[in-house]
Amino acid sequence: MPKIELQNVTKRFGRIFALKKVNLTINDGEYVVILGPSGCGKTTLLNIIAGIWKPTTGKVFLDGKDVTDVPLEERHLSFVFQNIALFPHLNVWENVTYSPFVRGFPAKKQNQIGNQILGLVELEEKKNELPQNLSSGFQQKAALARALSTEAKLMILDEPLSALDPAVRVELRTKIRKLVKELGITAVHVTHDQDEAMSVADKIILMRKGEIVNVATPQEMYNTPKSLFEGYFIGQANFIEGYVQAQDDTSFTINLRREKMIKIKKQPFYPEFDAGEPVVLFCRPENTLILPKKTDNTIGGKIKRRIFMGSYYRYEILSFTEDLILADAPLSQKILPINTQIYVRFKPNGIILFKEPKYGLKEELQLE
Ligand SMILES: Nc1ncnc2c1ncn2[C@@H]1O[C@H](COP(=O)(O)OP(=O)(O)OP(=O)(O)O)[C@@H](O)[C@H]1O
Ligand SMILES: [Mg+2]
Repeated sequence: MPKIELQNVTKRFGRIFALKKVNLTINDGEYVVILGPSGCGKTTLLNIIAGIWKPTTGKVFLDGKDVTDVPLEERHLSFVFQNIALFPHLNVWENVTYSPFVRGFPAKKQNQIGNQILGLVELEEKKNELPQNLSSGFQQKAALARALSTEAKLMILDEPLSALDPAVRVELRTKIRKLVKELGITAVHVTHDQDEAMSVADKIILMRKGEIVNVATPQEMYNTPKSLFEGYFIGQANFIEGYVQAQDDTSFTINLRREKMIKIKKQPFYPEFDAGEPVVLFCRPENTLILPKKTDNTIGGKIKRRIFMGSYYRYEILSFTEDLILADAPLSQKILPINTQIYVRFKPNGIILFKEPKYGLKEELQLE
């Protein structure tokens, strides 16, 4: 069964380091998603796992066996790409039974695999259609069926849903994950769509500038990001700069812009902070409350914008500290008109305190 390990893998294109000393383990049966901004090395990492490219330095292991020099054809993988790769002159059935056919299986076995896979992806009705007569969603389903018919235990998916309509994308991502899990396949899926990553992944590999920033579950990345970049790339959040004014055993007093002090409970996972040290307060909009009156640890502000999000309202607030703060409010809450004076409070368990990045917050959150 496929367990994938990369040891100190570097990939260079001339002067560009597309991957820098990457170490990674993907366990058998895991659905992992490689996520990160454009140009960060996602496709390069995927191509090295698949054997399409060789690393410049470092090693790749499949099930403990060194496959660094083993070419693609000998790794027994299946592929699903953004640009749907079907044989245009073959109908759906012929596309799906192509792999069992070239592997020399008897007709009975070819039929058995074809029927099983078409059933799994619910494409029986389209079996006689040529790809050109199908919508892009059905074409991608057929491409998925063809990938599954190889019976490979490792499936490589590079932006498989990017060319599809949003509704089809959501339907198909649920289906892909379900099939992968039912068949016990290991899947490595590249996307730059964070919703897609969160909805299908057992684990997300978050990349930036040729390096792995973190490997964690979607819940861990969303709820307790390990870095400001991770918190920024996954979901939406407020980032408020200040510095440590004082601290005792249980809390910090943070001095925000315009000398606004707020108290923050210490969390066991926080690093040590020195007095006077610059920090960034992180809080998700759903953990940011809008209150009508001033209480402890609130920041005054004015509503600047209200956005209808379907199941809630998102407010943009210009705070007294000169930050633009996002806060979500349920539809049942009274609508607040623009320029209403309100107070913002961050839920204590929703706050994470980070050290101010070395090159500043703006640089840290830059999506290059
Ligand atoms: N064949 C190549 N020759 C030269 N440079 C390359 C090649 N392939 C990738 N690169 C460079 O390596 C870096 C990583 O590219 P890669 O395609 O892996 O990024 P990516 O994360 O997949 O981006 P995207 O989200 O845009 O698909 C980029 O700087 C890219 O320009
Ligand atoms: Mg890419």
